[in-house]
Order: sequence, then structure tokens, then C-alpha cells
Amino acid sequence: MNLTEVKLINLPKVLDERGNLSFMEEGEHVPFDIRRTYWIYDVPGGEQRGGHSYKTNQELIVALSGSFDVIVQDGAETKVFTLNRSYYGLYIPAGIWRHMENFSTNSLAFVVASTDFDEDDYECEFDDYVTFKAAAR
Ligand code: TYD
Repeated sequence: MNLTEVKLINLPKVLDERGNLSFMEEGEHVPFDIRRTYWIYDVPGGEQRGGHSYKTNQELIVALSGSFDVIVQDGAETKVFTLNRSYYGLYIPAGIWRHMENFSTNSLAFVVASTDFDEDDYECEFDDYVTFKAAAR
């Protein structure tokens, strides 16, 4: 996997004078079977989250509230996605290093994941990740 596989997905937005509504459906907007969701909130100023890749887990990350940056790396390239709209999902396939930073006050990162939580699915050593990716090229 490389960074060309990381994609911003434009989610449906239903505008209404009572407020907006967005949604996502497996297969339609989410390019994997949804197994789990989790969310990250109350992140103190200056803190980072993530800082790993997954061997198999795929994710879609939505800034349901506020804003934050998602930095993705494939060992060769780096890209920064600023998420600040609740109708965009950032799709990250397995095998991509990612971390999140610059969380605004009251931001809420909602993550849809393709696998159960499994710490053995994590690659947390960046140097090992880069070595592995270089060998795979
Ligand atoms: P972790 O994935 O390390 O968070 P981050 O990468 O943002 O720093 O998860 C933090 C803790 O939460 C860790 O002890 C594992 C636990 N956790 C679960 O139990 N289930 C989950 O679905 C997730 C994502 C984390």
C-alpha cells in the first residue's frame, strides 16, 4: 500500500433548515466491512494520537467536530490531511503509518474500522515500518 490509496471520501450531506445530516453506509461510502467504531475526544492541546500502522485493519476517520490533522506516511512519502468538516471521511488502508495532531478544542475524531481491536495488528516502531516497506518495494 502507498499513499495513493489514502483517499478523502465525500459523504452525503442532507441540508435542512433544522440542521444538516450526514451518513455513511458500508459498501456505498465505506470501502470495507465495518467491524468496530471508536472515537477520540478531550485531547489536550499539543497532544498526538496514533503513531502506528496496522497490518490488516482499514479505517475511515471523520472529524465529527472541530479539526485535526492526519499525517500519513508510507515510508517514502508524507501527506497531511486537515479534517475540519463532518462530511468528509479519510480512508486509510492497512499498511500506512498515520498519526493525528493539531486537535482543536472540543474536537471529536470518529473512526470506523474493519477489524476488532487487536494489539498484534499494530506496527508501532517507525524504523521497523520503514525497513519493512523498503524491503517490499
Ligand atoms: P491506541 O490505538 O494506542 O490509541 P492511539 O493510537 O490513538 O494512541 O489505543 C489506546 C488504548 O485504547 C490502548 O490501550 C488500546 C485501547 N483500545 C481499545 O481497547 N479498543 C480500541 O478499539 C482502540 C482503538 C483502542
